[in-house]
Amino acid sequence: MADRRAIGVFDSGLGGLTVVKELAKALPNEDIIYFGDTGRVPYGTRSRDTIRKYAAEDEAFLLSKDVKLIIAACGTVSSVAADTAENLPVPFFEVVTPAAREAVSLTKNGKIGVIGTAATIKSARHEKNIKALMPEAQVTATSCTMFVPLVEEGWHNSEDIIVLETVKRYLSDIVKSGCDTLILGCTHYPVLSDAIQKVVGRDVRLVNAGTATAEAVKEYLNKNGIATDKKDNGVYRFFVSDKPESFRNIASSLLGETVDEDMVEQVSLNDL
Ligand code: DGL
Repeated sequence: MADRRAIGVFDSGLGGLTVVKELAKALPNEDIIYFGDTGRVPYGTRSRDTIRKYAAEDEAFLLSKDVKLIIAACGTVSSVAADTAENLPVPFFEVVTPAAREAVSLTKNGKIGVIGTAATIKSARHEKNIKALMPEAQVTATSCTMFVPLVEEGWHNSEDIIVLETVKRYLSDIVKSGCDTLILGCTHYPVLSDAIQKVVGRDVRLVNAGTATAEAVKEYLNKNGIATDKKDNGVYRFFVSDKPESFRNIASSLLGETVDEDMVEQVSLNDL
């Protein structure tokens, strides 16, 4: 039986919109309810306990909106707090497993780079997933703490000297490693793809976790007969835990479509 309920997607802030963008391509008729915890971003510099607490609250919020499936569109939550979803009454997807699988399928020289937040890199979750599929792989992992604030600030133009120099500085080990495949292990990072590609060179394949995740969700919905049967374009609603204005502006530019005022609602952190 088709299921017309929305897909729930969450992230600490704007980054999960890079996953929404891929979902829109793969599943254009599905409705999406997005929660961006903009009042508490960033997650990636916090302790595991705090990230787990926030993740559990984000999942509960989406469940209260009666979603049919939840995606943690956040590399940090996927790496250190996926266990908070173990008892959810709906299917749960994270972004590490599909990204690792894609990187392994793409690499030719077995050298894979991973970039993510401090919590993600410390967890070594990508590396474990990669090694499980390809034990001989050489993985070089680096945390890029300044990338999330850059993106949240709307600074992503690859011509911008500050953006480019920041990316260069963080990626020096990745460049030295000779990897031919680089996992963007934080969902904010695809926004910086142009700058990252400039720094690592055109021969390095960038893995955007959103693309592989959207494909995995599509396959799951179809296999289980719970894709929507609506023929119209999906309807999107966004919830944020801080003021909606800046979210709306950056979301519109990220998604390439105007996010109107009535599409974004602020929720109080006390209600989470
Ligand atoms: N988009 C989140 C991630 O994928 C950002 C993390 C943060 O809030 O620091 O890890």
